[in-house]
Amino acid sequence: MITERAPAKINLALHVRARRADGYHELETLFAFVADGDTVTLAPGPLSLTITGPFAAGLSGEGDNLVLRAARGFAERFGTSVGGAFTLDKHLPVASGIGGGSADAAAALRALARANDIATDDPRLFDLAADLGSDVPACLLGRTALGQGRGERLDPLDGPTGMPALLVNPGVAVSTAAVFKAWDGVDRGGMPDGDVLSLALAGRNDLEAPARALAPEIDAVLAVLSDGVPVLARMSGSGATCFALYATLADRAAATARIRAAHPTWWCLETALA
Ligand code: C5P
Repeated sequence: MITERAPAKINLALHVRARRADGYHELETLFAFVADGDTVTLAPGPLSLTITGPFAAGLSGEGDNLVLRAARGFAERFGTSVGGAFTLDKHLPVASGIGGGSADAAAALRALARANDIATDDPRLFDLAADLGSDVPACLLGRTALGQGRGERLDPLDGPTGMPALLVNPGVAVSTAAVFKAWDGVDRGGMPDGDVLSLALAGRNDLEAPARALAPEIDAVLAVLSDGVPVLARMSGSGATCFALYATLADRAAATARIRAAHPTWWCLETALA
């Protein structure tokens, strides 16, 4: 049995630069990962997927989970037989801008690579990851990186590892495609040079405005996260999850206590940058 972690991804900054003819958008984004997320295990057997964990129900109606697509794609790409009894322990909210499905697919690819003695940095694995979704290559890399193209062209960077982080989701699922479609088409400029934290502070998430229009709950999340003393508070990906980074554990604890008291139904994850 092989176990792979599928940590949540956050976009420290996400600059949308242009609409492309293929329906995707040209991005410059600063990917980072946190210490917590889902877990994928692979055991020998015919292809199957069992989903457990607090957010398992969110995937119950889904016919073709990305983990199964990853397994079929792997067999096709590497000439192995289709198979693997997968278990996905789902701790990340579904359709929430923190790459849950992409992280799960990347973890499944890593597990299959290990089971078949293929290096996890094999370029064929990254090609397959890009076919599965724009965020899957970043999740396969699993470390802080500048993403370009539709997010699949990656340059690893040294990030502020260990920095306390808080992720908050108000319980609304947001469609990534719908948020991108609602982007106003204005190129607000690229990323400056600098270290990861200063890039993040100087950056923005261009999907915040269209996501807020589709899911007004995001306004309330950003308002409570900006209250207090975060180093940075921002929406991740296409939302609705927002994150804040803190200088100290005490600053984060104060924010968490305040948010849990005011919004007991919201999902809050105390974690740290990986
Ligand atoms: O690549 P993925 O399947 O995760 O993307 C989901 C949807 O998000 C795409 O169908 C597209 O509408 C939108 N998208 C985009 N530009 C990107 C990434 C995603 O328009 N760079």
